[in-house]
Amino acid sequence: DKGNHRHFMEKEIHEQPEVVSHALAHYVDLGNHTVDPAATGLIDFSSLRGLAISACGTAYLSGLIGKYWFERYARLPVEIDVASEFRYREIPLSADQAALFISQSGETADTLASLRYCREAGLKIGAVVNVKESTIARESDAIFPILAGPEIGVASTKAFTCQLTVLASLAIAAGRARGTISEAEEKQLIKSLAEMPRLMNAVLNTIEPQIEALARELSRYKDVLYLGRGTSYPLAMEGALKLKEISYIHAEGYAAGELKHGPIALIDENMPVIVIAPHDRFFEKTVSNMQEVAARGGKIIFVTDEKGAAASKLPTMATITLPNVAEIVSPMIYSLPIQLLAYHTAVFMGTDVDQPRNLAKSVTVE
Ligand code: M6R
Repeated sequence: DKGNHRHFMEKEIHEQPEVVSHALAHYVDLGNHTVDPAATGLIDFSSLRGLAISACGTAYLSGLIGKYWFERYARLPVEIDVASEFRYREIPLSADQAALFISQSGETADTLASLRYCREAGLKIGAVVNVKESTIARESDAIFPILAGPEIGVASTKAFTCQLTVLASLAIAAGRARGTISEAEEKQLIKSLAEMPRLMNAVLNTIEPQIEALARELSRYKDVLYLGRGTSYPLAMEGALKLKEISYIHAEGYAAGELKHGPIALIDENMPVIVIAPHDRFFEKTVSNMQEVAARGGKIIFVTDEKGAAASKLPTMATITLPNVAEIVSPMIYSLPIQLLAYHTAVFMGTDVDQPRNLAKSVTVE
């Protein structure tokens, strides 16, 4: 049932404040601002030498953001790859590592094959899944449900932000278990995560008219480039994936710093560049990349926050201004304009948003 929404995708985008709050309530104690040991402690992170993560598509991109968090907060080295590569790479693995497999459906063939490969190697297996009765869940030692509720649209939206919520909670738990973050830091991070539902609602209630107008314009282009640094880099790839899969506009996501190593040759007035740049420790660097785009006549769609919008004087095709948010929640909050832009562009193009051509919700072939 789509309720009063035109598509499941639209409904699922708007469900995010509610579902992320369910996911969060499962993994953290919102009264004391601590992680919940029962939910997060199914893997003993304290003595791990490393963590392997594998997944496909959007689930892989949530894992890539998770890597930044596990490495930063838990000082835990993360080996991550798309499942179709991971399983064949002959990665040296050992029983003092654990592995996480991220999958909305829990049935993705390559992700399941990677899981079996890691089991063979003696790793402890965790499944970050939406469907708790799925094959990936059944074959795991520990199930970390994302609690997103059924996701019908082929383009993954609420599963992505719920995966991020779970991974952020696990990274904080791992940081505490390994003594790499203090109790005070844990409280601060969880307080920031607790702000998510309110911030998501605020964003969803304000940016849609601007995004719709922008989507109308974007639907006239054939190629779009997304740039970001830090956790905004996987988000740039997620933005490109979302746009291409439902609007069929060619899009690429790049690390902002890679611009001058190739993609800058493509910059002209026919390829809008979407720059994802919260005012974080990477902001100045990303703005200097944006400068390079502007100097070559590139059209910029600047996705930033109030501080960022005030700090940059570069001309843009549009500036989407989000509230200033803590670094750990920015990937979840910045997902919203990224998803809505892809959604409204596809609606303008008249594509089958919930069931794009050639795609299946669950990819059970290799
Ligand atoms: O069910 P899974 O999370 O394992 O699916 C993985 C990918 O097939 C999936 O995320 C796909 O990339 C989406 N259509 C992206 O929106």
